[in-house]
Amino acid sequence: MQHSKKTPFPDDFLWGASTSAYQTEGAWNEDGKGPSIIDTYMHRAEGVADYKVASDHYHHYAEDVALFAELGLKAYRFSIAWSRIIPDGDGAVNPEGVAFYHRLIDALHERGIEPVVTMYHFDLPAALDDKGGWSDRNTVEAFVRYARVLFDEFGDKVRYWITINEQNMMILHGKAIGTTGRSGVASEDVIYQQNHNMFVAQAKVMTLCHDILPEAKIGPAPNIVSVYPASCAPEDVIAADDWDAVRNLMYLDIAVKGIYHPLAWTYLKEKGWAPTFEDGDAEALAAAHPDFIAFNYYSTQTVGASRGDASDLQHRGADQQIVRGEVGLYRAVKNEHLPTNAFGWEIDPIGMRTTMRRLWDRYHLPLIITENGLGAFDEVVDGKIHDDYRIDYLRRHIEQIQMALGDGVDIFGYCPWSAIDLISTHQGAAKRYGFIYINRDEQDLRDLARIKKDSFHWYHGVIGSNGTDL
Ligand code: BG6
Repeated sequence: MQHSKKTPFPDDFLWGASTSAYQTEGAWNEDGKGPSIIDTYMHRAEGVADYKVASDHYHHYAEDVALFAELGLKAYRFSIAWSRIIPDGDGAVNPEGVAFYHRLIDALHERGIEPVVTMYHFDLPAALDDKGGWSDRNTVEAFVRYARVLFDEFGDKVRYWITINEQNMMILHGKAIGTTGRSGVASEDVIYQQNHNMFVAQAKVMTLCHDILPEAKIGPAPNIVSVYPASCAPEDVIAADDWDAVRNLMYLDIAVKGIYHPLAWTYLKEKGWAPTFEDGDAEALAAAHPDFIAFNYYSTQTVGASRGDASDLQHRGADQQIVRGEVGLYRAVKNEHLPTNAFGWEIDPIGMRTTMRRLWDRYHLPLIITENGLGAFDEVVDGKIHDDYRIDYLRRHIEQIQMALGDGVDIFGYCPWSAIDLISTHQGAAKRYGFIYINRDEQDLRDLARIKKDSFHWYHGVIGSNGTDL
């Protein structure tokens, strides 16, 4: 098992790449688009060239899709900006926003690329945030209405739908990634009520999708890390289970089984943060069933038993991937077996196999990896980008998918982050992930030219050989 052979990829494996709207599109206030909370957050970022231009994909989409076709992508996972479709979140539909995504999806189909559409990737319409955001139950109905618009408009062109990107990271790291909105960080009881409201919204949208688009497939996309105990001390194992429940499994149990994970629910109750259920919530959660689990994977996390004081906490970084620690719950531990990237994120390809095995074992739903990649400070040398470090990272992760296939896991796609360079959630334009370099930096928008990196040519070969030529 441990050394099992790599299994060939199925012929219809979805070799893809991912992006999100606000991190690539730009045109943040063009053609009727309303501001999102990310636009208001980015307003506060001073001393950098306009982040809201991002990679200017809105104006370069045709060129970008042509490059995706040249890369050989079978699938492209992107998000639709809610406030481009409905500028104030729950009012009139913006026809120009709708038209943009028709153009993009049509261009993908013309090139034989399967669109994988995320409905909501961090960018809540600012107008909804002004009215209370996810604390306000009207936002639940606004999301369902927005979903109906998407299903009505694009349902005959889109087979794969993803509800919410990384709800768990919005809840646990909203401050770092900029999703707390104008009011800033709320108290935990408020945050977990928002979390619950999002769960209900997601459930209603999954049910709606199945009602009106019986051929479509829909699922959630949390950020999942396998949690390792720091040692075989039973106390460390208990801490790892607790953190796994609070960070990962709460989000998937509710989506798949319609119930809160028992350890997560106990945690919320003990803290006084258990959310209030409104009439019909339990039924809405129980009625919803995803067709697949999408998950974003960058790292694993290692934890020990809490010592009950500040020594549980790790003060470096503290973002989506860096284990933070929580007094009374678990202690953050650096995994000495793993290297880190330039931003302190531990690199663990085998952990991705562990994660796939665990998810398949627990949920028995097909899996798709919707993010995985290496953020790095790429350099242009004589017009080329020699990102062999990214090739090495991706190769070692793809090998683990082959191993997981051999383990019997049903995994149908891999969409690394990211198709093109984009703006990081909180670490600027210089932290790059793409197969395609965008010629801009923090201070200077330059000409936004697209340049194929070495990883572009390598991934082209991987896709062309269906994963044989790594
Ligand atoms: C995920 C997000 O958390 O990680 C992406 O879904 C994000 O939006 C990606 O860009 C990488 O994180 P970062 O912080 O380096 O941008």
